Amino acid sequence: MRILVIHGPNLNVLGSRETSVYGSRTLAEIDGLLQKRAGKYGVELEIFQSNSEGAIVDFIQAKSPTASGIIINPGALTHYGLSLRDALADASLPVIEVHLSNIYAREDFRRQSVIAPIARGQISGLGWQGYAAALDIMAAPEA
Ligand code: DQA
Repeated sequence: MRILVIHGPNLNVLGSRETSVYGSRTLAEIDGLLQKRAGKYGVELEIFQSNSEGAIVDFIQAKSPTASGIIINPGALTHYGLSLRDALADASLPVIEVHLSNIYAREDFRRQSVIAPIARGQISGLGWQGYAAALDIMAAPEA
């Protein structure tokens, strides 16, 4: 089983970016923890980060035919990324949307997700462990 893990804009600077909101782990640390966890499940992860919506759409189009699911933190694209939403919908794979912060406890503009309606579910506010929970759910045989 291969799962795509996608990080959107500005997540490359985790570790120094608003640490009181997003935590102090770097993206490389989070990816390493996820790879380790995936290894326990015998699941292959393909991890991608971009600050560009088009590059993420290209990645989804190229990789979804051979994948079983998508875990994505779309960053700010969550709130307006309609071409990202269309690409995810067209992939016809289970999608779990992850946010490090609780998007419902912040500014008003963060409360709307254009991704959520086409996602299987959303995990918001649990820090990096939200990715781990998404992986557990996707990798579990019941999923
Ligand atoms: C985020 C929340 C978004 O509103 C924000 O633009 C991000 C990160 C999160 O993980 O909490 O870049 O997706």
